[in-house]
Amino acid sequence: MGKKVTVVGAGFYGSTTVQRLAEYDVFDTVVITDIIEGKPAGIALDLNQSRPVEGFETKVVGVTTGPNGEGYEAIEGSDVVVITAGLPRKPGMSRMDLLETNAKIVRQVSENVAKYAPNAVVIVVSNPLDEMTALAQIATQFPRNRVLGQAGMLDTARFTNFVAEALQVPVKSVKTLTLGSHGDTMVPVPSKSTVNGKPLREVMPAEQIEDLVVRTRNGGAEVVALLKTGSAYYAPSAAAARMAKAVVEDSGEVMPVCAWVDGEYGISGVYLGVEAEIGRQGVRRVVETDLDADELAALKEAAEAVRAKQADISSM
Ligand code: APR
Repeated sequence: MGKKVTVVGAGFYGSTTVQRLAEYDVFDTVVITDIIEGKPAGIALDLNQSRPVEGFETKVVGVTTGPNGEGYEAIEGSDVVVITAGLPRKPGMSRMDLLETNAKIVRQVSENVAKYAPNAVVIVVSNPLDEMTALAQIATQFPRNRVLGQAGMLDTARFTNFVAEALQVPVKSVKTLTLGSHGDTMVPVPSKSTVNGKPLREVMPAEQIEDLVVRTRNGGAEVVALLKTGSAYYAPSAAAARMAKAVVEDSGEVMPVCAWVDGEYGISGVYLGVEAEIGRQGVRRVVETDLDADELAALKEAAEAVRAKQADISSM
């Protein structure tokens, strides 16, 4: 059987994710869906016409879906489904302001995914991320390892980029980590961050690290304030597409993702940003790393904040 991935939502995040997935040339089929008549088909047609230029064989299929699940047969047999459906932020909004609107959308999409692609790994990117990931698991009733969210890779990429720019070094020489929620309780982890293998704290003053930590935590809002008409999608789609690739290739890569935490770090029963080994079944295992006392305390605080919100979503 050929490899197949579906991206639900043909907005900025969905369409750029589909482009990246198609250009990897590792899937046989990439399906893109939306409720807007014609838009997914138009994106598919356009992307397929880029194949001779970019040199990939992956076929892109665009399908408009209806309110009662019409069109969802197109996602049958998907190995991975990336859910990007939902509203993005406007300037001044927090991700949490999207909760009720996006909960309705993500629930409806998840129920159709469960029906038509019951064996898929689901990667959620709609915001507020940690809550929407928890909701997708509830609505699909999939095993928790098969539902995960994209946020940590993006937040980590932002942190890495800021550090590389500040020190004027290649991004390749910088490693950073962020854990916790994709929101106010995001936990950038300087103790696990390095530049050319040296601890970040040895090459950058504490105040500057703190400035970059704050900028990372507000990384999405900074883009929203500049774009004014939507939220970020280039870096987010890069992260989501890499996760989908790691799943179909059963790569075992360790990535920062939003995953179900069950005892790691002394935290249980919540979807939270942690590092996890990714493979064909989604999350193979959560990978625990040594944290400073203050970082661990911040992670626990993040867990309690998202736990409180995630308790509300089962009724949404
Ligand atoms: N099924 C499929 N698609 C849907 C549905 C649905 N039930 N409801 C809405 N959509 C589609 C919209 O029609 C739109 O094309 O989701 C798309 C969202 O696209 P954009 O408005 O461009 O938003 P985008 O930038 O792609 O962000 C999507 O990702 O980062 C998060 O906060 C962001 O929640 C937002 C999501």
